[in-house]
Amino acid sequence: MRSYSLIAPAKINLYLEIIGDRPDNYHELAMILQSISLADQIDIRAIRIETIIIRCEHPLVPPDLGNIAYRAAYLLSQEFPDALARYGGIEITIHKNIPVAAGLAGGSANAAAVLVGLDLMWELGLTQGELQQLGAKLGSDVPFCVSGGTALATGRGEILSPLPNLNHLYVVLAKYKDISISTPWAYRTYRQKLAHTYISDSESQENSRQRVNSGPMVSAIAHRDNIEIGKLLHNDLEKIVLPEYPQLLKLREAFASQSVLGTMMSGSGPTIFALTESQAQAEEVEAAVKGEMANPNLEFWIAELNSNGITVAN
Ligand code: C5P
Repeated sequence: MRSYSLIAPAKINLYLEIIGDRPDNYHELAMILQSISLADQIDIRAIRIETIIIRCEHPLVPPDLGNIAYRAAYLLSQEFPDALARYGGIEITIHKNIPVAAGLAGGSANAAAVLVGLDLMWELGLTQGELQQLGAKLGSDVPFCVSGGTALATGRGEILSPLPNLNHLYVVLAKYKDISISTPWAYRTYRQKLAHTYISDSESQENSRQRVNSGPMVSAIAHRDNIEIGKLLHNDLEKIVLPEYPQLLKLREAFASQSVLGTMMSGSGPTIFALTESQAQAEEVEAAVKGEMANPNLEFWIAELNSNGITVAN
């Protein structure tokens, strides 16, 4: 039986607006999500014993139900018990390049890769929509990670409308090794501090979604207006995370003082990214910010924006 290697790209948020509350305790969001070339590799193979084994050298990636990639394999084994009986257990090896708990959807991308890989290995013939529906049971970012590219994401983040791709742009990412941020903490604190700004009736929520859908960022993306895209980067969670972590604010300011299109925190952080128009410009910005911050705990990556969801590497 075949084994599969899958490439699982990270994502950044070009836009994240918190519209209001939802009955399921999640937040109603309007986001613009973008996949990038920084990616993990996930190898999947069948094993004789009917169990799920996760292998990963990264110390922060758990080998059990604490790992969303494990939960993805478990979910499919529950949904398709005949396939599990026919093909045996699953060994998943995660080669981590995407930093963990960084606001880059690394775990969600791994889960999406397990769904796509098991669909192939077990010959389930699921459509992309079916894979995304299963992904939504695992986490709000998983459906996007299946299809990737540039997309408007509403609802919890699982309702996706594709946008024109931005493959011509580059991004410099920076993350402090010693800062990890819990997404539930960021949203919980947002609710504690800013619930008075929430829109709760469904008609007003729909108006807010429409405002983003036909708004200036979507228009700038459609026109490939790089300057406008840079200016319109937005993330409501910065209001919570940056005051709590002054180093991140300083890092963001260091990026903003360079010749970049724009800079922003991704997701619930702590990764800060800056958009540039070329790889050379990205390298210059990285060197300048590295020099200015002079902190051995600060790690950098350069990536291209791309239109890839989960792809098969072999
Ligand atoms: O869906 P996911 O497990 O990735 O979400 C992580 C946490 O982020 C949730 O437990 C919730 O606290 C918060 N969240 C939210 N509203 C969303 C997405 C996530 O409040 N739309």
